Amino acid sequence: MSRFQMLEVSSITEEALDTTTLRFDMAEVARPGQFVMVWVPGVDEIPMSLSYMGDVKGVTVKAVGEATRALAAVSVGELVGVRGPYGNGFDLPEGRVLVVGGGVGMAAVMPAAESLGTKADMVIGARSAKDVTFLSRAEAACSRVEVSTDDGSMGFHGNAVQLSGELMDEGRYDAVLACGPEVMLYFLLNLCRERGVPCQLSLERYMKCGAGLCGSCVINGRRVCAEGPVFHGDELVTMNEFGRYRRDPSGRRMPI
Ligand SMILES: Cc1cc2nc3c(=O)[nH]c(=O)nc-3n(C[C@H](O)[C@H](O)[C@H](O)COP(=O)(O)OP(=O)(O)OC[C@H]3O[C@@H](n4cnc5c(N)ncnc54)[C@H](O)[C@@H]3O)c2cc1C
Ligand code: FES
Repeated sequence: MSRFQMLEVSSITEEALDTTTLRFDMAEVARPGQFVMVWVPGVDEIPMSLSYMGDVKGVTVKAVGEATRALAAVSVGELVGVRGPYGNGFDLPEGRVLVVGGGVGMAAVMPAAESLGTKADMVIGARSAKDVTFLSRAEAACSRVEVSTDDGSMGFHGNAVQLSGELMDEGRYDAVLACGPEVMLYFLLNLCRERGVPCQLSLERYMKCGAGLCGSCVINGRRVCAEGPVFHGDELVTMNEFGRYRRDPSGRRMPI
């Protein structure tokens, strides 16, 4: 059951540029890929993937605007409001799995990669070396970890989809799991379709209630907070808004 709780932040870790993990005791059972709504008192409530499971859960926040900056500035011992967990999470597939995390999308896929363990290879996509998140955590969990950076400052010079294509050239995967910017997910879906590999992609859409009530997160009639945030490739190919349109806070459809 999802309930609202005020939880004390027990530790804070700097993960990468402007990217911070906050941990807190939260007993609710969660699946990899689920998210919580985090309320920063006096500021706003925002959706955050659970980047750590177990009793000491965590969220990993990239400071991009008012609420994320305020969350990243919280100190150990301060209280934040947490509702959830919400959403469906990933179905953990059998066989060899390629897990792809773009930017702070790593927060959503890292627990799935840890659950899969050595069945998983991982691609970490980032703009630059200073933005790479969870590299040592991924190396401890997965069989193989490769990094792509847009500027070539670490690993493969290019994007996470190009690097995923190279790994697929080297060996067969039975499934792909991913989270990241929607444009990355759009091209990754095309790659998976070309190679005949089933995929599950976690979307980030504007959310207000997080609990399936307000409709602000809808894409092609599907509520990302309730029927998602993880969608199977078969379903995404039927959604003509995927990779093309998003909704702003007033609900207006805007090109991505
Ligand atoms: C299911 C889900 C899981 C997420 N997990 C994480 C996570 O683990 N770590 C993380 O750093 N971020 C995550 N996000 C994105 C995060 O919620 C937004 O960055 C945050 O809400 C922006 O709020 P702001 O006030 O800081 O920025 P704003 O000033 O409101 O906006 C800054 C930018 O973020 C976009 N944005 C604003 N609100 C949202 C929203 N509610 N959802 C998506 N994009 C938004 C805006 O279009 C703009 O480009 C997740 C979003 C969703 C939907
Ligand atoms: S955010 Fe309200 S229905 Fe999804």
